[in-house]
This record gives sequence, structure tokens and C-alpha cells, in this order.
Amino acid sequence: MRCKIVAGNWKMNGSLALNSQLLAALKAAAKPKNCELVVCVPAPYFWQCQQALMGSGIGWGAQDISAHEAGAYTGEISAAMLSDFACEYVIVGHSERRACHGESNGLVAAKAVRAVTSGLTPIVCVGETLVEREAGQADAVVGRQIDAVVDAVDPSDLSKIIIAYEPVWAIGTGKVATPQMAQEVHAKLRSRIEKRNSAAAAIRIIYGGSMKPDHAKELMAMPDIDGGLIGGAALSVVDFLAIAEAVN
Ligand code: PGA
Repeated sequence: MRCKIVAGNWKMNGSLALNSQLLAALKAAAKPKNCELVVCVPAPYFWQCQQALMGSGIGWGAQDISAHEAGAYTGEISAAMLSDFACEYVIVGHSERRACHGESNGLVAAKAVRAVTSGLTPIVCVGETLVEREAGQADAVVGRQIDAVVDAVDPSDLSKIIIAYEPVWAIGTGKVATPQMAQEVHAKLRSRIEKRNSAAAAIRIIYGGSMKPDHAKELMAMPDIDGGLIGGAALSVVDFLAIAEAVN
């Protein structure tokens, strides 16, 4: 049985003052049952998160990681640095990084390997653009993105990764994939992995892209949707917790 997970992606938002309110409210709120809660925050706030959330049952993590172990990589942040602040999760291959920073399938896979071999749980994002969907290429694009990761990660580590299906056209646009559309992609992803690795049934595949409390319940009810990666709505404690509550 896969435990559902709802992870907040704060992106480049927040400040010490705002975060302290948000984290305190999250910590004080009743935790949803049957659902892990995680926040992925900008790197300068790892320490603040650690101080605020330690012992709360809420996990925290990063939005990116270097594929390298250490050394002359100006501006990059290593897995060991994340672990210094007790981060457990890291988003890799978010479409904003693929699009704005030219991250290739190979680099994303290398980051996933770096995370998992360092004891972190990578949340690996995949997803097609609107142009790719309309050209009937969604399966091929998402398939290539996932194959790169499955090829790179040691087969015995594969069940430790989380996959986030985030159609690019749904991110921050208010357009949400229908539960049926998302379920279809999730099921295809799972069966694609299954052909290569018997752990496919254990891998959590979460949906991301304009998920809000209004439609979270229908999405979460789908058999292959194991939670959500939440952007905008994660900046509101009420909305974020309502989405996590929707798993029940
Ligand atoms: P959104 O972002 O919920 O604001 O669409 C999701 C994401 O980019 O992870």
C-alpha cells in the first residue's frame, strides 16, 4: 500500500517573516491522516525550516540539488549540504528548471541518482508541454523523461524515488488535468516502469499542476495518483492542508 504524500513547492517565494507564520500555522494544525506532508523551500530557509518543523511530523526539503558531490561548482548546492539541515526530500527536474536552466533528461537523472545514493528522496518531475500534447507526443516525451531516470538509478533504489507528473500547461495556469487524463498518464508511467522493474507498484506517482482544494478529492481518488506536488496553493496553510485532507 502506497502512503499518499502532499508536497509543497514554494518556488522562489517567502521571507523569514512570512515563513515563520506559515511554518508555525502548519505545525499547529491538525495533521491529515494517511498522508505525509512535506515542504520544499528555497535553500536559504533550510535552517529556519529545520528549527520550525523538527519533531512536527512534517518533512522538508529542497527544490534542486547538484549532480556533483562537491567542489568548484559556483552556486550549486550539494546533497551533503541538504542533509546538514535534515532535508529528506528534493525536487529534481521541475519543468521550470528544464525550461529556464536547460536541464536535460540526462542531468535530471544524474541529480536523481545523486539524491537517492545520498539518502534523500528525489521527487522527479516529468511532464509534457501543450504543444507536445496537441501534437500527440505526450506519451513519448514523458516516456523519455522517465526512461532516463529508470536507466540511471540502481534498480534496488528505484522504489525510493517519487515521480511527479506535472503537465507543463497546467503549472501555475489554473488549468488542471482532468482526473481521468492524469490517471491515464500515471497508469502508463507505472506500466512502463513495471516492464523494467518489479518495484513499480511501490513507486509513488503524484500529480502537480494547479491543484487546489476544489478538485483535489477527485484527483486523489484515482488509483494511480498517490498525492500532489503543490505550488501556488502551498503558500496558503488552509489550502495546502485542505488538499492533504482530500486524500481521505
Ligand atoms: P502550481 O505549481 O500548483 O502553482 O501549478 C505546481 C508546481 O510547479 O510544482
